[in-house]
Amino acid sequence: MNKTIKPIYLDYNATTPIDPEVAEAMLPYLNEYFGNPSSSHRFGMQAKRAVEKARNQIAELINCQTYEIIFTSCGTESNNYALKGAAFKNRSKGNHIITSTIEHPAIIEVCRYLETVGFEVTYVPVDKYGMVDPEDIEKAITSETILISVMHANNEVGTIQQIEKIGKIARAEKIIFHTDAAQSIGKIPVRVDELGVDLLSVAGHKLYAPKGIGALFVRDGIKLEKFMHGGNQEQDLRAGTENVLEIVGLGKACEIANRDFEKNVRIMKQTRDILEKELMEKLDDLKLNGHPGKRLPNTLNLSFKNLEADYILSNFRNVAASAGAACHADEITISPVLEAMKIPLEYAKGTIRFSTGKMTTIEETMQAVKNITETIMKLKK
Ligand SMILES: Cc1ncc(COP(=O)(O)O)c(C=O)c1O
Repeated sequence: MNKTIKPIYLDYNATTPIDPEVAEAMLPYLNEYFGNPSSSHRFGMQAKRAVEKARNQIAELINCQTYEIIFTSCGTESNNYALKGAAFKNRSKGNHIITSTIEHPAIIEVCRYLETVGFEVTYVPVDKYGMVDPEDIEKAITSETILISVMHANNEVGTIQQIEKIGKIARAEKIIFHTDAAQSIGKIPVRVDELGVDLLSVAGHKLYAPKGIGALFVRDGIKLEKFMHGGNQEQDLRAGTENVLEIVGLGKACEIANRDFEKNVRIMKQTRDILEKELMEKLDDLKLNGHPGKRLPNTLNLSFKNLEADYILSNFRNVAASAGAACHADEITISPVLEAMKIPLEYAKGTIRFSTGKMTTIEETMQAVKNITETIMKLKK
């Protein structure tokens, strides 16, 4: 990529910039309101009020009670707490966990760890679109199953899972059901009751809040083995002095995501659709990965046949996107998600994820189309 030109950012699934309104809301907590929410004096009470306001802003977005929100340090921590917390708490009831083959490493690696301490995990496969069949989840259930975790929307290809259907199955069997909603919040409706989930993970930096803040929805009545030991913050569920500054940021980001939902989705979808249509028309040997319809409105995962992803990215003059495969020495590593979807190697190795955001403009998108088409045509010569 040319280092003198500011690249067009098409990597919003990796992270988002901080919304200026979010930064403004945070500013007083960087300077003036520095109190510890556990302190009983005025400084503490100001901080406590800010934390509770943010909890309410998240609860309004996902439609739950405020006391069902626990603040964490990131989406990864939320996933760790959900899975380990539910697994260890329910060990006496069974040792079987069900998940899918296209989860983020923040789920897959937790499951791999749980296997080393005696749990059994079934990794349910997906179809060519990256979709889990709820019937496969149902078939995988045994008398030992204590937990099901299936992501709401996939970070690489954007496929949206049938969480409501899986939720009904889990509820009928009285099995705890978790979903990783790191990528879906702010892009598609996320309401815990409609989804039928008991646990849901939120990652701040995917929705215009800063990095280093997350949240976990824990349905009333669901008990988790404590993960972070220490003080009795967060209803004694997550120890450690609250990250007030970033909690305020996450709360504001959720309020904005709720307020501007339709507008933001329209922008993300319009720019993503332009990118998709233009590239499909202008280039040959292109494969769209992920479900054509049931997909996040901002995500475009494309495979460029017989090219290498890293090589494509390094040749883009002014486009910032993500690779779905990496080439080291003579070896090509395909992302586990593309492998699970059985994308043929000649396509998988040239896979790029483009993801638009609420700040993406049509003008930028058209410039990106030009640069991408020119680059691919040059590389194919
Ligand atoms: C689906 C999904 N889950 C979890 C995470 C991890 O979130 P964090 O970076 O906040 O730890 C990500 C981030 O890439 C993600 O896309």
